[in-house]
Amino acid sequence: MAPAIVTSGGDMPEFEGRITFTVIICVVIAAFGGLMFGYDIGISGGVSAMDDFLKEFFPAVYEKKSHALENNYCKYDNQFLQLFTSCLYIAALVASFIASKCCTKLGRKPTMQIASLFFLLGVVLTASAVNMEMLIFGRISLGFGVGFGNQAVPLFLSELAPAKIRGALNISFQLFITIGIFIANMVNYVTSKIHPYGWRISLAIAGIPALMLCIGSLAICETPTSLIERNKLEEGKAVLKKIRGVDHVDLEFDSIVVACDQAKQITNPYRKLMKRESRPPLVIAIILQVFQQFSGINAIMFYAPVLFQTVGFGNDASLLSSVITGIVNVASTLVSIYAVDRIGRKLLLIEASVQMFVTQTIIGIILVIGLKPTGNLEPKQAMAVVFLVCIYVAGFAWSWGPLGWLIPSETFPVETRTSGFAFAVSTNMLCTFIIAQAFLSMLCSMQAGIFFFFAAWILVMGMFSIFFLPETKGVPVDAMVERVWKQHWFWKRYMTHLDGTELKPRKSDLAHQTMT
Ligand code: BGC
Repeated sequence: MAPAIVTSGGDMPEFEGRITFTVIICVVIAAFGGLMFGYDIGISGGVSAMDDFLKEFFPAVYEKKSHALENNYCKYDNQFLQLFTSCLYIAALVASFIASKCCTKLGRKPTMQIASLFFLLGVVLTASAVNMEMLIFGRISLGFGVGFGNQAVPLFLSELAPAKIRGALNISFQLFITIGIFIANMVNYVTSKIHPYGWRISLAIAGIPALMLCIGSLAICETPTSLIERNKLEEGKAVLKKIRGVDHVDLEFDSIVVACDQAKQITNPYRKLMKRESRPPLVIAIILQVFQQFSGINAIMFYAPVLFQTVGFGNDASLLSSVITGIVNVASTLVSIYAVDRIGRKLLLIEASVQMFVTQTIIGIILVIGLKPTGNLEPKQAMAVVFLVCIYVAGFAWSWGPLGWLIPSETFPVETRTSGFAFAVSTNMLCTFIIAQAFLSMLCSMQAGIFFFFAAWILVMGMFSIFFLPETKGVPVDAMVERVWKQHWFWKRYMTHLDGTELKPRKSDLAHQTMT
């Protein structure tokens, strides 16, 4: 059975309800899921650059790093060090499929509770690690937490939110991720001065959001959709009244029942997802995740301190620079919340692609000119690199970051929405794993060329947005097939008329290809 996500849009009646205290509490608690994920993204790079941590677990890297004549670009190239960061994402990939089943069978609330337990176990193992096994198993447990959390929290938020603030709430999850990354950067900055256990404190602090989620999730309510989907109709209606703060919820209740019934007709949503007409949203969801990761963002998010050391900053200045990029990331995500429904998804993505392409290319040029395998960049050049990284992060944070998650959550029809989204989550985790595992080795072998590599991807991303990405701003989620896919010059060929016959693209469509 496919789980249902109920959404309403302009063609549908406005449901009654206000933003109640219950909704606010639930959102705050679920936000800890985003914080946990963000904290884990941000913490590992700083920890991998701490000498005390390296001495204990990666003495070879520590030796290499301390070696005066060692090649700048290769100081941190070590498969195990990369595995410390990356194994979390491979575990999250596996977990997201299990979590999607869990969400349907047990509900969103227990899935979030399971996420917090995995997180707590992971925090205990990593913060108290005395050997590599504890460290890696701890990261894998954290990865299960991320997989369960990332599947359940966005779903929980979108099902709980009143329709009119659903988009903003969706991006709020990304906002909490960026806040988590920022907090992690600041924590690393402080703990790097605490010897020899600073890194343990960095890893242990992840326990705070996990504990909050664990305790808080005992108090929150299950979503009405999840209850109705599991045939608890009366309970579902009671919860709906409570979260909307009104007694007249029949319209919304009926629409959830209809969506759940519709979803129940599909016994195998994954088979439906493989059908020709599911291809447009599926291809877009997968490609956006690949692009989001191959833009090179996590090379910065995970390894900013390492990267800044590579260009010649000391320990302190590197961690401080990561704090600065963290602030830019949070602030620019706020811009996205404001702009996404005003100027639209497509324009944001195209503008940001130009901005990110230019900055990556200039960073590459500065490094080619200024950074020799040994020796440092001139201070002015190093400052320019930090500045350019900030502009690059800003572009990502108001476009590919949040929209990479928003677009796949709004373009699938109801019967394939959660299974399609599970594909998006797992593709994202796979690509994140690849970048986390390969970046330091690529930096060593490609040197400054790595920035041109990312710039080339960004060029393709921009082209793709211009020609193949439809604008979904203001389109009701349940009208995507008619108003977006069937109208698009390229994707309409995968659509069928109601009687099942194919829609043939007309020659004149080619002339309008960039308009949709
Ligand atoms: C991405 C993460 C990334 C973060 C940066 C998210 O949208 O999925 O991989 O680290 O943005 O803010």
